Amino acid sequence: MSTQKIVIDPITRIEGHLRAEVEVDADGVVQEAYVSGQLFRGIEIILKNRDPRDAGLLAGRICGVCTNSHFRAAVTSVEDAYSLELPNSAQIIRDLMAMALFIQDHVVHFYHLHSLDFVDITSALNADPKSTSKEAHKYHKKPFRNSHSHYESVLEKLSNFVKAGKLGPFSNGYWGHSEYKLTPEQNLVIISHYLEALKFQTTISKAVAIFGGKTPHPQSIVVGGVTSVADMLNPQRLNDYLFIIKNAKEFIDRAYLPDAKLLSIAYRDDIKSGVGRANGNFLSVGGYAFDDKELFCNGVVYNHDFENIADFEEYKITEEIDRAWYKGDSLDNEIEYTDFNEDGSLKTAKNDDKYSWIKAPRYAGKVMETGPLARVIISYKKENILIKSFVDEFLKDTDLELMDLSTTVGRDAARAIETGYICEYIFKLVSRLIQNIKYYDTETWAKYDFDSLKKRAKGRAFLEVPRGTLSHFIKIQDAKIENFSVIAPTTWNATPRNFDGVRGAYEEALLGLKIEDTSKPLEVLRVLHSFDPCLACAVHIIDAKGKNLGKYKI
Ligand code: NI
Repeated sequence: MSTQKIVIDPITRIEGHLRAEVEVDADGVVQEAYVSGQLFRGIEIILKNRDPRDAGLLAGRICGVCTNSHFRAAVTSVEDAYSLELPNSAQIIRDLMAMALFIQDHVVHFYHLHSLDFVDITSALNADPKSTSKEAHKYHKKPFRNSHSHYESVLEKLSNFVKAGKLGPFSNGYWGHSEYKLTPEQNLVIISHYLEALKFQTTISKAVAIFGGKTPHPQSIVVGGVTSVADMLNPQRLNDYLFIIKNAKEFIDRAYLPDAKLLSIAYRDDIKSGVGRANGNFLSVGGYAFDDKELFCNGVVYNHDFENIADFEEYKITEEIDRAWYKGDSLDNEIEYTDFNEDGSLKTAKNDDKYSWIKAPRYAGKVMETGPLARVIISYKKENILIKSFVDEFLKDTDLELMDLSTTVGRDAARAIETGYICEYIFKLVSRLIQNIKYYDTETWAKYDFDSLKKRAKGRAFLEVPRGTLSHFIKIQDAKIENFSVIAPTTWNATPRNFDGVRGAYEEALLGLKIEDTSKPLEVLRVLHSFDPCLACAVHIIDAKGKNLGKYKI
């Protein structure tokens, strides 16, 4: 049977370092898929021989989006190595920054990185403002900015783009593609929120910056605690933070969650036929304690067996490099780049061909999916009372089952549901912080004398961050970093194969996908974007045809 190869590179709208090669049969159905991280992240090497107290600031540079997550994970790994215990209020301040980042990240992902895979801008131009307002009422009783005049002004903005002969931020879409299923009115509702979310992005970033000093790349986390003491003790700063979160909650409740419901209902057929489902292995390390509960439960699911969730055990994590451009021990970060085939395609023919900069983390030898979907499934099945009602409500309103979330559109639904309960959790955290301050529990730093700490130590940090499970591992020798290693959420989800040939979650999710028009592989983008890929800092660059633009030696 004749097969055709489709290459998409770059995949992501902003972080263009991901490449997918899929083979489709004569009916356009994906028979094989390879996904490759195209840029090398050298931060681990830069961290070597540095003072462990600098680990956070340097590791934060792994990524321009997930800066706070890496910053915190690196500092936590150092604290673990030195057995430093964090004061309660410092923990809460770190959590408040992290939670605001979750909200920012999820909203940006849904609207600005992913929604245009489902929303056709050109179709929205045909929408009737009055019917649009009616449509929005189907998903919420008080939809966000739902007046006729507002929709008219959005339409005017859009048509001005078109009249000017350019779609501005909306250029480069597969507009008019037959796989776009929303009505003009549904398209207009989401576009309206897309524009609102641009403003939202600025405001929610301020919430991270209130305790972080700035964002991206906050400055206030130090080994042993946080430096934002004055912000914590200033009622105005706490009020500012709460004010931003309250406004964010309005947008999440009245725009984001309703839009996720709209998509889940409109793309019901895709959901029910399991489009974008990966292998059904899910991992969450849990975390973010509140009283005796945790926001996320830890757990491991194999093969969609939701009834038997195993506890997470960190010793079961391994990292393989058979098919990634490294050699030796996976911790050494020693590079073995083998380049592309002559025709510019990835080298994948043999079982030991290398094709990605992404290493292959495994849990108990298995490929895992991590992220909001994993957290929602595991926490819900473990009857986490902080989240249960949010999941129940969403499934009821969309007439879906938990299993349906393990799909492309379901992944987006899980992310929206998570954003909803994170808002509620933040209010609890702030009340707890205020209570601490009332009782003079205002320590924000665990005092230590660096010179008297162990010269040789090993530490690690496991954190759930917006895109999934993040772990940092550190080895300290003579009070310097001897070795540093990172497994980011996208490392789990975008993993290449291992020697055993088992596909990664991205690759598995693409299998069996029907592509309507192989010159416009919209379906591939949808599946991969639903994982919220984030590929990080790099020194190796290539152009769209796979040719080297230059090689950089560190
Ligand atoms: Ni990132």
